[in-house]
Amino acid sequence: MNSLNPEAAQFLSAQPFKLFVGGRWVEALSGKTFETFDPGKGRVLANVSAGDSADVNAAVAAAQEASRKSGWATMPVNDRGVILHRLADLIIKHQETLAQIESLDVGKPRGQASAFDVPHAAQTFRYYADLAVHTRRREPIALSGLEARTLRVPYGVCGFIFPWNFPFLLVGWGVAPALAAGNTVVIKPAEDTPLSTLYFAKLAQEAGVPPGVVNVVTGFGETAGAALARHPELKRMSFTGSPEVGRLIAEACGRNLVPVKLELGGKGAAVIFDDVNVDAVADSLAAAVTLNAGQVCCTATRWLVHENIRDAFVKKAIATLGAMKIGYGANPETNIGPVVSEKQRARVLGYLDRGVKAGAKILLEGGRAEVKGHEGGYYVRPALLTGDSGNVCAREEIFGPVAYLMTFNDEDKVVELVNSSAYGLANSVWSNNLDRANRVAEKLVAGNSWINAHNLFAHGLPYGGCNLSGCGGGVLGPETLSDYLRNQTVARPLV
Ligand code: NAI
Ligand code: MG
Repeated sequence: MNSLNPEAAQFLSAQPFKLFVGGRWVEALSGKTFETFDPGKGRVLANVSAGDSADVNAAVAAAQEASRKSGWATMPVNDRGVILHRLADLIIKHQETLAQIESLDVGKPRGQASAFDVPHAAQTFRYYADLAVHTRRREPIALSGLEARTLRVPYGVCGFIFPWNFPFLLVGWGVAPALAAGNTVVIKPAEDTPLSTLYFAKLAQEAGVPPGVVNVVTGFGETAGAALARHPELKRMSFTGSPEVGRLIAEACGRNLVPVKLELGGKGAAVIFDDVNVDAVADSLAAAVTLNAGQVCCTATRWLVHENIRDAFVKKAIATLGAMKIGYGANPETNIGPVVSEKQRARVLGYLDRGVKAGAKILLEGGRAEVKGHEGGYYVRPALLTGDSGNVCAREEIFGPVAYLMTFNDEDKVVELVNSSAYGLANSVWSNNLDRANRVAEKLVAGNSWINAHNLFAHGLPYGGCNLSGCGGGVLGPETLSDYLRNQTVARPLV
């Protein structure tokens, strides 16, 4: 049941894992390594090279050299598209292996990684490869007295720092548009979950991505991450993670005048009107808040329920959440895997404590869970709280399977309540009255408003946040490709 396929087992046996710099697998210059854990067992999974500023310098230099000399930036866009489609083909060919690695490193259910995270990332490469092929790179500008045109050229070296909740999927969201546009990249994966990114580098090499175009420096945030963010030779930077670290990245990039894209946290609301199928909506939101053990930045964590259906909704939500199977990621029956680390579990439990001390009432008691045979794992039971809108659990991002329920009876007031959040990533509206649903959806201040669904992702549907949830244009939309292309005009007076 929990066994690995031979390919995943072989990948994991080649330890310590090395950095990927300039097309070569190398140890960190310091020789140091760190451990990544299997959160389902609380045991060491692998030893990984601990890159720091010296390794980041080498990786940026390799990416710079590749930007100038490998031909990646200047090759016909169709040729790059062919290589990126080969990469997507390889991701699908090794889908099960990648899903097993991801499930082990992050703790998430293997079936979820295999059905969603991995194929979705492959599709991201195809989407941007195709979009790039159909994007005009050279356009005449119609002007009197001037012969003029615009060129759209890649920036050069782009830095990426990723979090641990969707490591493989986010590599796709981040680097696919940058690569399709002809840039070269240096990736710093989260220290908790570096393995699928290393596998990605291996596949990129196999697909024919030239040496130095993709570089991976594993290591800690304060060392490798900070060195990347402040590197003066970057042309663009992208960060996904907490608002606290997002600020540090933006500060460092600001000093160097490097444009930065930030994808930060959220405190998404679901507004549920009284004309819905209560049981079905309660089930959908129970599934949303427990997806990836609640470690999803855009998920529905504030449940704003019309007072007429409150009791029926709570009853069904508690029954569904309470029946979910908490377990090891490789167990096919598992609905909720562990959270990623002991630190993350302590954070979730800490919030539950603080919320209750500040007056929140418990509708379903969460807390630490024990899974038989996996006693060391970082398991958490789903929780449902209720209380006023000022409670810490109603305001701050917890990043665990915890929902906070409030009631309403007035459309304008519920819109105000949703918009009182400091975040602005994603909300949903649930109603069978589509006029009302659309009206409310447009009034919610966030990057994304979903109707009768939560956590909707599609290639071509731009995804991003405002306010504390981020800035810099978001991902997944056609605009994201443009974010990685710089405009350059060429003009001559016609005398
Ligand atoms: P984090 O923001 O510290 O980690 C994300 C990435 O940033 C990792 O690769 C890390 O190595 C890097 N990093 C950390 N400090 C850095 C620095 N000084 N300079 C450059 N890079 C640095 O997230 P953390 O501490 O693991 O999680 C804390 C909370 O952040 C979570 O509970 C959650 O609320 C939020 N979060 C949000 C995510 C999202 O998708 N929006 C993802 C991960 C965390
Ligand atoms: Mg891990």
